[in-house]
Amino acid sequence: MPLDYTVHPRRTSLVIVAVFLLFNLCYHVVYFSNDENRRSVHVPIHASATLARCRALDAKPGPPEDFYARNVSDRFQTGTKPVVIRNATIWTGRVQGLEVLQGDVLFDGGIIKHVGTISEALLGEYDDLVSVDAHGAWVTPGIIDVHSHLGDEPSPALAGAQDGNSLKGLVQPWLRSLDGLNTHDEGYASSVAGGLTTALILPGSANAIGGQAFVIKPRPTVERSPTAMLVEPPFNLNRSHENDGSPPRWRHMKHACGENPSGVYAGTRMDTFWAFRQGYETARQIKQAQDEYCSKAVAGDWASLNDQSFPENLQWEALVDVLRGRVKVQTHCYEAVDLDAFVRLSNEFRFPVAAFHHAHEAYLVPDVLKRAYEHPPAVAMFAAFARYKREAYRHSEFAPRVLADNDIDVVMKSDHSAIVSRYLIHEAAQAHFYGLADNIALASVTTTAAKVLGLDHRIGYLKTGYDADVVIWDSHPLALGATPKQVYIDGIPQLADPFTVEKPAMAQRAPKTPDFDQEAANAVKYEGLPPIAPTRVKTGTIVFANVSSLLLKHPRRELYDAFEARGSSEPGIVVMEVSERHTGIVCAGPGEECAYSLAADNLDVVDLAGGSLQPGLVTAGSYIGLSEIPMERSTGDGPMYNLLAGDPPSIAGGPGYLPKAVDGLMFGTRDALLAYRAGVTIAVSPVYHDGAFARGLSTAFSLGAATKLEMGAVVSDVAALHFAIGHGDVPSVSTEIAALRHVLLHPPQGDGEAWYKKVVDGEIPLIVETHNADIIATLITLKTEVEAKTGHTMKVTILGGAEAHLLADELAGAGIGVVVSPPRPLAYSWDLRRVNPGLPITNQSAIARLIEAGVTVGIGPQGTSGMPGLSAWAVRNLRFDAGWEMLNAPKTISKATAFALVSSNIEKLLGVPLDPYESDLIATSGGDLLSFDGKVVAVISPRRGRVDFFD
Ligand SMILES: *[C@@H]1O[C@H](CO)[C@@H](O)[C@H](O)[C@H]1NC(C)=O
Ligand SMILES: *[C@@H]1O[C@H](CO)[C@@H](O)[C@H](O)[C@H]1NC(C)=O
Ligand SMILES: *[C@@H]1O[C@H](CO)[C@@H](O)[C@H](O)[C@H]1NC(C)=O
Ligand SMILES: *[C@@H]1O[C@H](CO)[C@@H](O)[C@H](O)[C@H]1NC(C)=O
Ligand SMILES: *[C@@H]1O[C@H](CO)[C@@H](O)[C@H](O)[C@H]1NC(C)=O
Repeated sequence: MPLDYTVHPRRTSLVIVAVFLLFNLCYHVVYFSNDENRRSVHVPIHASATLARCRALDAKPGPPEDFYARNVSDRFQTGTKPVVIRNATIWTGRVQGLEVLQGDVLFDGGIIKHVGTISEALLGEYDDLVSVDAHGAWVTPGIIDVHSHLGDEPSPALAGAQDGNSLKGLVQPWLRSLDGLNTHDEGYASSVAGGLTTALILPGSANAIGGQAFVIKPRPTVERSPTAMLVEPPFNLNRSHENDGSPPRWRHMKHACGENPSGVYAGTRMDTFWAFRQGYETARQIKQAQDEYCSKAVAGDWASLNDQSFPENLQWEALVDVLRGRVKVQTHCYEAVDLDAFVRLSNEFRFPVAAFHHAHEAYLVPDVLKRAYEHPPAVAMFAAFARYKREAYRHSEFAPRVLADNDIDVVMKSDHSAIVSRYLIHEAAQAHFYGLADNIALASVTTTAAKVLGLDHRIGYLKTGYDADVVIWDSHPLALGATPKQVYIDGIPQLADPFTVEKPAMAQRAPKTPDFDQEAANAVKYEGLPPIAPTRVKTGTIVFANVSSLLLKHPRRELYDAFEARGSSEPGIVVMEVSERHTGIVCAGPGEECAYSLAADNLDVVDLAGGSLQPGLVTAGSYIGLSEIPMERSTGDGPMYNLLAGDPPSIAGGPGYLPKAVDGLMFGTRDALLAYRAGVTIAVSPVYHDGAFARGLSTAFSLGAATKLEMGAVVSDVAALHFAIGHGDVPSVSTEIAALRHVLLHPPQGDGEAWYKKVVDGEIPLIVETHNADIIATLITLKTEVEAKTGHTMKVTILGGAEAHLLADELAGAGIGVVVSPPRPLAYSWDLRRVNPGLPITNQSAIARLIEAGVTVGIGPQGTSGMPGLSAWAVRNLRFDAGWEMLNAPKTISKATAFALVSSNIEKLLGVPLDPYESDLIATSGGDLLSFDGKVVAVISPRRGRVDFFD
């Protein structure tokens, strides 16, 4: 029962007494009278404190009324100079994210003082003012991540600091992520370099209720403590302000439904929801006891309270606060079944839900969200990271726009380090690419995120009185590869010596993204599993019109623009003849030259609207094609034998066992078809084994084929021989090197023998998956050693290569190529701790460094936490990854080089024997493959003698 503060006549005297008691703790016994009776009441010594506490019970969280009177931020660091950023293009976050001002931003004391046109007179009032000329650059509020494990699961990952998940119970609202917030996480500086200025640090999702979450700013502090990183921590943390009358501050509580808690606790969804209800019932009873107690206390009825103290329970107090509406409930919940159950729970126990996180099926059930208690939860999502487990299988890249169309608040989040939070803006940019309006996309990582955290009174906007968390960008923040030139947190510049490059003028506006209306409608219609195979297959003559570039492979496999080569920059026409016998370009050139082709009857004329024809992309570095849902064993080929764990059974070949990925291939997986629709036509995948040494023989295959038996489905049965070597492996790195040396010099007899010999003879490449520079150095010497003994030159490729830049010249000298995978690694583990972070921290990317040294370089998918086994979903993003490298290293990486990184170089490095004339071509409309402007409309495949359309 809620407390009733209404003062009516019979109670007036009691209220006065109570107020009096607040200031007079020494009165134990008070006599008073009223008209009906006269009696003595024992008033306990804690009465005043108790009454104050009772009054505070239902106070709603929020900033104090005089919040904007603050002149100095509570997070101000002494010595921070005032800054004015002049001549900026300012996205303020106001007016639904539609306001853009040309002008200046002034901050001091850790607080924004003025936004817009600022007079010289005002600037004159500031001593020591630092003036920064933005030269018109985009300036936004700092990026806010509502779902991060920074600090609790620090990088590089070491066993000594795995503080994300407690496995001591299904419901543990008493735990606090703050208690595990490690201050030495490489992820902080990395994230700040991407513009991140605030993050909510959530406990993991192993538990139904995993504990309390805390908001931090990831900058270094003078105190060097976790506490110093907090933003408006709840007062209950140290109880200092408990009764001082100021409104409480928001708290956060992590909840999780579905696979994780059921999996960890060997239960079911039914068990998880019973655990929720049991926990909430416990909290409800405590709340009710408190409310009853307080109504008696406020009524002065101490007699019937009979010296009982205020009912409370340290383990459950946070959940009681949820029921009092003072906690932002942050719920990891994927599927319709879970969302629906949690909405029922919110109504049963009457608490609002701040956000559903991940929520891969939320876009299918907006009406369920709208039924939640008090208000629809926001939905905090990944852009394209999906299908890694069953719950995420029906994800759609169109979910953000579908939810926004349904008036649901949309937030993009990282789940750092699942997605590296340095690139959170890229999640918003992808959502924008797939149809989320630019103002909503920018809001999704700023203003809307601030609202979800209950902090939109101080962060998420560029407004007077707000925290001075500001990013100056090198391009429009939603442009591909947008990178900060400087990041301010609490007014403090975070990049001591930022490196920047000049971005093209086109990158200074929001990308003109394709029309995906039909695809978005289909995602909902087919409940997340719309048909994605090509819609039309054509042969015959096909005319592509309004083509602005035609990038072709040269027999020596260097790409060139055939249009530019002909001295024409106007959109032209490309006429293709397509048949199983022969597929090729009949005419290509400016309009008039091939215009005759338009006159013929029965032609397929495809208007590319300024788009391009370019090579199909080739991928390596994931296990695409070997499973549908990586975390569901029954949907994939499964792991091979670990060769270092004992000889495989003789029926499998004993010591000569060497499985071929081609035998386990699955065609038409959703990851494969989505990648195909994004211009990736060929993949090279080895046999899956997470963490073990051998990966068998890889295969190169067509991502667009429906079955293995289709013409051209398998490009080569065997591409290369794969191994993986890393610190932390059991047995040791030295054992893995010994084993590698042994199989090369003394190939085990049996089925594998011939393949090992082919590697030694340089007929097929040896691929070693590793990141670490010491291991790479050992491989360079091993290559020399084996070659000296055999007299043959081997082809060796490093896959991974996060530290390869440290040996760029040596790799070039040894003729060893590198597929950098992921292309933008974090120091996920010790083996990657010397990553080269690239702009704005270092002057160039590791990829550009390797290219400059003369190494043949490819790039793999960005993927998840650097785990190849969880990266097939990301193959579709190769086009953007290549474009990113080009935009951030314009002097080193031309468009042709960028394409080579994801096509011809992968073919060379992974041993895919492709005739350049047989290469697939991708037709994109509106722009090319390396941008957010182009949309893939067709794949022209000479090898397969057909053109696949996606219209
Ligand atoms: C804050 O600044 C305003 C105007 O700049 C001034 O009027 C006010 O006195 C200041 N308040 C404090 C507490 O310093
Ligand atoms: C702002 O910067 C742009 C781009 O450098 C420049 O063209 C313009 O003249 C500048 N405007 C002012 C007022 O300085
Ligand atoms: C207790 O927490 C509040 C809120 O963060 C802070 O202002 C205060 O300084 C803290 N007190 C102590 C003694 O740490
Ligand atoms: C080329 O683009 C122009 C402008 O959009 C359009 O009018 C024309 O029809 C296009 N040409 C062809 C052959 O589709
Ligand atoms: C980047 O820095 C490295 C190391 O300081 C230097 O060797 C290299 O030349 C620089 N490259 C560029 C493009 O500035």
